[in-house]
Amino acid sequence: MLWEDRINNYAKETGFPKSLFIGPDGRVVGTWIMGNDYRVKSTYFGGYPAGYLRRVRALFPDKKRTLHLFSGKVDLSLFPGDTVDINPALRPTFVDDAQTLARVPLHKYDLVLADPPYSVEDAEHYQTTMVKRNVVMRALQQLSVGAHVVWLDQVLPMYRKDAFSIDAAIGMWITVFRRVETAKAKLPASSRQMTLPISGEIDAGLTA
Ligand SMILES: C[S@@+](CC[C@H](N)C(=O)[O-])C[C@H]1O[C@@H](n2cnc3c(N)ncnc32)[C@H](O)[C@@H]1O
Repeated sequence: MLWEDRINNYAKETGFPKSLFIGPDGRVVGTWIMGNDYRVKSTYFGGYPAGYLRRVRALFPDKKRTLHLFSGKVDLSLFPGDTVDINPALRPTFVDDAQTLARVPLHKYDLVLADPPYSVEDAEHYQTTMVKRNVVMRALQQLSVGAHVVWLDQVLPMYRKDAFSIDAAIGMWITVFRRVETAKAKLPASSRQMTLPISGEIDAGLTA
């Protein structure tokens, strides 16, 4: 499936405005503004934010078998697939270390969603040691040619350029704000009182 078709399907299925674009080098770039809703339905620490799985699914309608790596309590009703986690209490399909994946028949999957702990502090929440991202990427070299890995993280994992190419880089989310003049009518009540300290003038000032 061409990336142009993936992007069109994303816009069609999610109803979000087009936010991904194909650059001159053929690589997809863009941003997903996840909004203010960071709630995680499962309440699992570090779980996918609301809407994330729906967005990824809309980009890959052609995929037949998905593997959720570092699966935690991923919502399989939103994105069906097999799961891998090091914690057996989470009852994943495969209890395995993402750095080896010795028990996982990787060649059977055409899509991997990976959501590792971002930091040592995060890893402590799961009572695991921090993963070596490059070692996980090395284990993923057992995937068949054409398989995609969607890796959610704060940094780019190191990877071998003769094993993977970057198809898309999606930012989530750096903001550059510019302060604009605030119309008086839009000031919140607290700042109205600060700027208009004489009570009799407040309403008059704001309704003018
Ligand atoms: C950020 S959470 C994933 C949350 C998941 N996306 C969700 O929506 O629930 C990271 C998960 O990685 C698992 N994990 C940590 N180290 C691991 C390792 N070496 N191999 C496999 N899983 C690991 C933790 O047990 C934890 O469930």
